[in-house]
Amino acid sequence: MKNINPTHTGAWRNLSTLAEDPLKIKNLFKEDPDRYEKYHVRFKDILLDYSKNRINDTVRKELLLLAEQVELKGAIEGMFTGKTINGTENRAVLHTALRNRSNSPVYVEGKDVMKDVNKVLDKMKVFADRVSEGAWRGYTGKSIKYLVNIGIGGSDLGPVMVTEALKPYQNPNLEVFFVSNVDGTHITEVLKKVNPETTLFFIASKTFTTQETMTNAHTARNWFLEHAHDEAEVAKHFVALSTNSAAVTEFGIDLDNMFEFWDWVGGRYSLWSAIGLTIACALGFDNFRELLEGAYDMDEHFRNTPFEENLPVLLALIGIWNTNFLGAATETILPYDQYMHRFPAYFQQGNMESNGKSIDRDGNRVTYTTGPVIWGEPGTNGQHAFYQLIHQGTQLIPCDFIAPAISHNPVGDHHMKLMSNFFAQTEALMNGKSLEEVKAEMRKEGKTPEIIDKIAPHRIFEGNKPTNSILVKKIDPSTLGALTAMYEHKIFVQGVIWNIYSFDQWGVELGKVLAKSILPELEGEEEISSHDASTNGLINAFKAFRKR
Ligand code: F6P
Repeated sequence: MKNINPTHTGAWRNLSTLAEDPLKIKNLFKEDPDRYEKYHVRFKDILLDYSKNRINDTVRKELLLLAEQVELKGAIEGMFTGKTINGTENRAVLHTALRNRSNSPVYVEGKDVMKDVNKVLDKMKVFADRVSEGAWRGYTGKSIKYLVNIGIGGSDLGPVMVTEALKPYQNPNLEVFFVSNVDGTHITEVLKKVNPETTLFFIASKTFTTQETMTNAHTARNWFLEHAHDEAEVAKHFVALSTNSAAVTEFGIDLDNMFEFWDWVGGRYSLWSAIGLTIACALGFDNFRELLEGAYDMDEHFRNTPFEENLPVLLALIGIWNTNFLGAATETILPYDQYMHRFPAYFQQGNMESNGKSIDRDGNRVTYTTGPVIWGEPGTNGQHAFYQLIHQGTQLIPCDFIAPAISHNPVGDHHMKLMSNFFAQTEALMNGKSLEEVKAEMRKEGKTPEIIDKIAPHRIFEGNKPTNSILVKKIDPSTLGALTAMYEHKIFVQGVIWNIYSFDQWGVELGKVLAKSILPELEGEEEISSHDASTNGLINAFKAFRKR
């Protein structure tokens, strides 16, 4: 991967000039009746319409040139072929190998990793089948009924997002719970709902040292032993999903019950690895395999399709245009599918932990904006919460609208109503409503001229808000796999363009280290004075509250 400062490319300079001349999306449609045809792409059951962006042929051409000038093609090959592209941790980045359904060799330091990948997948299948079929028994001989995933960050959000998004595929004999927060409330509430005789705990942690996960895991283990009274029974109720066999053994989990993955799998890209075991058990291994296959299809599309037809590349370039040239600081992901309710949260970590960086690959502070703030909620809930700001606020907020044509729950006219909102929102965001239109509307409503003068300005919608519409046939395992891989690759492309390292996460370290040093200070009676005045004051107030 070459280190190229994007601002030194000709395309970047041209885009800066083009951005000085604002485009009106509404006019772009008037000028070009074929705009939808030219600005939408389809891959399998996923259709991306990016025509409602402030982009014309010239801008698109320059964005595509930018991708060439930062040598994106070579970077993509570097990732897929196991080059050490995570430069600060000296690692390859190969979540794509986990779903490489072609089984073609992928080498890391001269070793083909596919053998290990397939070995773990086989082991996951055997285990998931036994759990799904009720053949895996707990310490009193009963089948497993409750799955509890204990993990945080990527070791939580991936399995949560997928099991929620694919709930219609879930084994009806199993219930799935997730514990992530170190707040004791999280595990307490889950333990109230499960039975030690029929519960399987998945301790999901790449490092097996994460404070939150290990604390919750020990609490779960103690709770289990209060009922089972025999350490030997732990093996029937605890499995580990990790890269760290020494720590797994130390915790007391038999290595037979450990599902391994490797340091070239980033935490936030790990749902395709052994971290997906909770998914495989909850949905059945065949559905997990279809998820991998969908992601593999997207990988192939990403790797082999010209950039102008390439979904992840187009999404990334539109994002760059909005962020770096039109000044957007955030982006929303708005799934019009209730089951997808954790998809925005999943990519909040995926995107922000990857591209929330300010030092470039040469070690210099960047002079341009990098990763935007990612947020979102399912439609239509978001419409009644924050869309007001998107429509009429002062910030430019590009939105991705995602919806399936076919609902898993075709009750009455719900889906038609949901979809009418999906279509209406992007149209409204683009068209807006002018003062003239508002006044005419108010006159029709019979309002007096005084009221019209007073209220009309508040009812104006500027419009021209950029949106992508991502319409899929149905949220099934394969489509979800493809959608997830699509956004992963979008993040990768943007990281390449911004010349940053997308696969480390040093930014989460400082707080973690400080919390460790503060923990012992919270226990004793003595006044704390080792920090700044605010932190000392807060810690001492906390202690005083607890005394009273
Ligand atoms: O938030 C930092 C982080 O390292 C994430 O990247 C990761 O997903 C999460 O912590 C959990 O880490 P682990 O799987 O090692 O417990």
